[in-house]
Amino acid sequence: MDKQIKGDPLAISPGVGKASWTNKLKRSRIAGPSMSAVRDELSSHAIYPATLAVHAGSHDDPSTGAVGTPIYQTSTFILGEEQYRAIEEGYARDRFIYSRYGNPSQWAVQEKVAALEGAESALVFSSGMAAISASVLAMLDKGAHIISSNELYGGTYSFFHHELPSLGFSVTYVDPRDLAGIEAAIRPNTMMLYFEAMTNPLLKIVDIPALSEIAKKHHLRLVIDATFVSPLGCRTLEHGADLVIHSASKYLNGHSDLIAGVCVGSRKYIDQIWPRLLAFGGCLDPHACFLLERGLKTLAIRMRAHEEGASQVAHFLSSHPKVQQVFYPGLETHPDHLLAKKLLKNMAGMVTFAVENDAAAIKLLDTLTLMRQATSLGGVESLVSLPYNTSHAAFTADQRLRMGIPPGCVRMSIGIEDPRDLIEDLSSALATL
Ligand SMILES: Cc1ncc(COP(=O)(O)O)c(C=O)c1O
Repeated sequence: MDKQIKGDPLAISPGVGKASWTNKLKRSRIAGPSMSAVRDELSSHAIYPATLAVHAGSHDDPSTGAVGTPIYQTSTFILGEEQYRAIEEGYARDRFIYSRYGNPSQWAVQEKVAALEGAESALVFSSGMAAISASVLAMLDKGAHIISSNELYGGTYSFFHHELPSLGFSVTYVDPRDLAGIEAAIRPNTMMLYFEAMTNPLLKIVDIPALSEIAKKHHLRLVIDATFVSPLGCRTLEHGADLVIHSASKYLNGHSDLIAGVCVGSRKYIDQIWPRLLAFGGCLDPHACFLLERGLKTLAIRMRAHEEGASQVAHFLSSHPKVQQVFYPGLETHPDHLLAKKLLKNMAGMVTFAVENDAAAIKLLDTLTLMRQATSLGGVESLVSLPYNTSHAAFTADQRLRMGIPPGCVRMSIGIEDPRDLIEDLSSALATL
């Protein structure tokens, strides 16, 4: 670690001659313009994720001593010799020049998320979809083919189905757990496997290490959307993914009050994606970065509470006579329970279950008093929605059934409320059916 980073984030390594970096990824670069006061300490020995969530990337204001990263509400930065040199020599991402290129408030988030994923680098975007579209387009050559899941988040599916073909890319959709089917779908121009770590709404677990083996064998890039599991649930990069993406609007921020996204991986891939962020313009505003960084600080305790609440709610529902089926990876009855135990350190807060039919599900939602009827997930408040009239409204009842989504299917994002209150709310609502 370059010690100069600590006091002077904009300082460069000594002995760097003009253009001496050409064709060398390491060249004169630091790992971004870090201002984190604890960066050296964080890299000197293993630090637990809860501590990283609080300290990595954050810094105190050197001029006032204010604790916590200031909000750098600026569009632009003073240009000095060092900034001109960064532009000239092609390492503009490492210096502050203009806020679409980079801003200290963005870097505070990026360093924190990179530390939590055990990655070299990260980029923050104005939405999960901005992260997905920029990352996917950056990692493909012209005419490339992608293999992806037939249970993708709808926004990603729309991007893959409606946008990618018009740009000359093709996508094959497969069962995310059919490894033989995935391998059989590989074509000479396949470049990427793109999957979600936990599927919506049935919460199936995708075998990331097995996908990574396939990707390595066939020289493909493995991209995983880990939104549903969070960095504290799954060590996605350690399991062999090349890039991990999150909708930070969910668990990472955790308070349902902003839209953001991140991609995380090696410096090589993130450097490749950064020009797309500049070109498509999906940068995150400094104030939203401040909120996201603040949210991230409590990720560890929130995830513990989400998991605890979801587990209690899932167990309660499993023995309720009005409930036909419960899907929660922490339950032994879940088809992927063993894989979930192997891959996940935290099962997160999603619970899906089925009552008799869609009419009963609607009545249930209308009767709940504590849980809010809304899409999205990962916030401190419990949210509940029905796949049939939200995420899977475009499918017929038959198609949903073939996908394994039963009639009366209810999806819940369990918040951090006391699980006893949530169970009471569910219990009263189920009693009316
Ligand atoms: C798994 C998953 N990925 C990506 C997204 C898109 O994120 P955003 O809404 O932040 O653009 C969502 C949104 O619900 C999601 O559930």
